[in-house]
Amino acid sequence: MPVRRLLLAIFMLVFTIAVSASVTEKILQIPLIEVGGLWVKAMHTASSRLAGFLTFTPDLTSPWTYARAAILAWLGYALWAFFWRPLNRVRKLGDVGYVAEGSFTTKETANFIQRRKKNGEELPPFYPNGWFGLMESFCLKKGESQALNMLGMELVIYRGQNNRVYVLDPYCPHNGGHLGVGGRVVGNCLECPFHAWTFRGEDGKCVSIPYMDKSAKIPSSAKVKSHIVTELNGWIYLWHHAEGLEPNWSVPEIEEIATGQWTYRGRTEHHINCHIEEIPENGADLVHLGQVHGPIFAAGVDLRTMWSTFWSFAQHHWSADWSPCPEPDGHIGEVKLKHALALFGRMFPGLDLDVTAKQIGPGIVYLYFESVLGPGVYLQHVTPMGPLHQKVTHNIYVNTYIVPPVAKFYMLGEALMVERDIMIWNNKQYVRRPLYVASKEDKLVKKHREWYSQFYSKLDKPVLRKDNTLDF
Ligand code: FES
Ligand SMILES: [Fe+2]
Repeated sequence: MPVRRLLLAIFMLVFTIAVSASVTEKILQIPLIEVGGLWVKAMHTASSRLAGFLTFTPDLTSPWTYARAAILAWLGYALWAFFWRPLNRVRKLGDVGYVAEGSFTTKETANFIQRRKKNGEELPPFYPNGWFGLMESFCLKKGESQALNMLGMELVIYRGQNNRVYVLDPYCPHNGGHLGVGGRVVGNCLECPFHAWTFRGEDGKCVSIPYMDKSAKIPSSAKVKSHIVTELNGWIYLWHHAEGLEPNWSVPEIEEIATGQWTYRGRTEHHINCHIEEIPENGADLVHLGQVHGPIFAAGVDLRTMWSTFWSFAQHHWSADWSPCPEPDGHIGEVKLKHALALFGRMFPGLDLDVTAKQIGPGIVYLYFESVLGPGVYLQHVTPMGPLHQKVTHNIYVNTYIVPPVAKFYMLGEALMVERDIMIWNNKQYVRRPLYVASKEDKLVKKHREWYSQFYSKLDKPVLRKDNTLDF
């Protein structure tokens, strides 16, 4: 396998050199044989200039010495960042997916649209039942606590000295202090910032009231709710159930991440205004693949301009299928996706990507891919931050043959495709009963809806407040 990949890498290098040489030949209109000579000469001049720049004798009295040192330091940093620093692309509400109206900014327009958008009738529950990614593990260090508001709940999360993560209801039963705002981690417990009552993470019981009479007992009602949490794949997950039921499935561990076979190369974070179900439904919506994701990613994320004829020489081709898994994995749906890139109407197998996406419950997707350089995975987590506000995070882990710049490029490509979806999601309304037509494609969307409905409690009746305008 590694030999095959090495050969492919050599082939792609030779192919790139051949294409560049023939382009140079056309532009300069000189024989191909002279192109090689020109390249060697240019490389020689460039490397001797670079060597001169790097090996200068410092004259500490000259300001140029310091300027040069600063440029070198910056270059070193830029090179390190480009090659090694993981990608971190964050797009907040209103940053992408809206079209600015008149003299208003995109964010102002986003607010108007939120106010006037007809959100549709009979919306399904906003917070389905299942495991949800709360945050990446690196966001919470040992001994740290944070206030959180997601899934319609106010929470406090902290990491004890035993490195375990705990999530509690945050309001102190003594007199309402917020444990997530100034609460200190003491051992594996959390101390209220107001009068120092201390709560145990495992069950939320108060275990210490420092000023209480020695003879008195801590009241049994001195406790807060402790939530069910697990941590794996570099993520902290919380179990949410509208009726308070215990988990009936677990989040699968990705062995290659746990064993360190695959390396973390970056993340993206997007905030989107839509119902949570719109996002996983994309996986079963085959028609949108050609429509929204057909134009090459370089054509941008704006649905109005991505069809520009300038980029029409390159086109993504997708074929896909979606099916639910049989029991006991009924909570998992599987998307098989094949990606190919056509340039001037010709396919280039070196750019193929085979993807198997597992939708695990209502808000987790593992997208395993196989590229010419080897395998990897995108983790996608959809976390409902409010009724119609989703945080979507992607992380990429790859094998060692996919060098960091290539992995970051893969991550960026995925992010740009998602940003096109965001333009649809931000502006569309949720339609409870879409106008399906007789087709395999619409049948699949319907099937996905039936599958997804298992994550809703019948008793959970969503209410969207009139003033819920999601200002940002
Ligand atoms: S309010 Fe928390 S200890 Fe008093
Ligand atoms: Fe999509």
